[in-house]
Amino acid sequence: MTLPYAVSIRTRRRLHANTAWIEALTAHARTRRASRGPDDPPADLLDLLVDAREDDALAFTDLEAAQSISINLGNLYRVGGTGLAWLLAAHAAHDTARPDGIAREDWTGAVVKEVLRVYPAVTLTSRTLADDAAFGDVIVPAGTSVYLSPLLLHTDPRWWRADPGRFDPARWLAAEVHDPHAYLPYGAGPRRCTGDRLANAVLESAADLLADRRTTGSSGLPARRWGSVTQPRRLRISVASAG
Ligand code: HEM
Repeated sequence: MTLPYAVSIRTRRRLHANTAWIEALTAHARTRRASRGPDDPPADLLDLLVDAREDDALAFTDLEAAQSISINLGNLYRVGGTGLAWLLAAHAAHDTARPDGIAREDWTGAVVKEVLRVYPAVTLTSRTLADDAAFGDVIVPAGTSVYLSPLLLHTDPRWWRADPGRFDPARWLAAEVHDPHAYLPYGAGPRRCTGDRLANAVLESAADLLADRRTTGSSGLPARRWGSVTQPRRLRISVASAG
């Protein structure tokens, strides 16, 4: 790719590093494909990608398999890590003590849902319209990029029963919590997050570990470093046993 003049040296270095990374992964996919026997069971995601067939033809090129691995690894560490960071930040800043009479797993589930509601790791996602679409009175033409913010949706009082501005895991113990379309921490539809179950399992295990520990932060809730993935800025947390 020819880079425009205005790109900074730092960005240029990052793009070159990314190209080298994708090239190395593509070479790895090629080697792996060559070493696969027809009846070898898949051992990991790369095996599944290089083995995949569509109408008897290969479903993915080496480059596509490499890009998929790269996106998954990137999301696993960057987005999954951001989710964990917000869980820690929320534990330090809010009261997350389990109320009497509530089962432990119900409570950790409620804490994780509330962290993903108030501090969604992905604060902006988008779609390009395939057809003209009506949003209320506004007709948006095909080809337009439409952005959706899970954060705005999660804190809009029109769609939530109890004060959505407040961090309150107990809201998730009620039968009706929100409008069915108002909670999208993992997106929706065919391009929904593919790591949602893994991410939830990790977050719930972490919330369970934190339930028996004391979490303290230096200065309450950290500011947000805004992006499509929004991270806590300068997070400093210490975790100690509760005793
Ligand atoms: C707290 C953790 C996570 C959150 C909140 C999260 C959220 C999201 C969201 C909102 C999207 C866009 C969905 C849409 O536009 O409808 C997405 C996409 C994606 N996520 Fe996650 N994610 C998390 C962790 C992970 C992990 C751990 C993995 C992989 C191991 C992963 C893999 C992906 C992939 C591959 C996509 C792109 C899917 C596609 O475009 O078809 N995510 N994620």
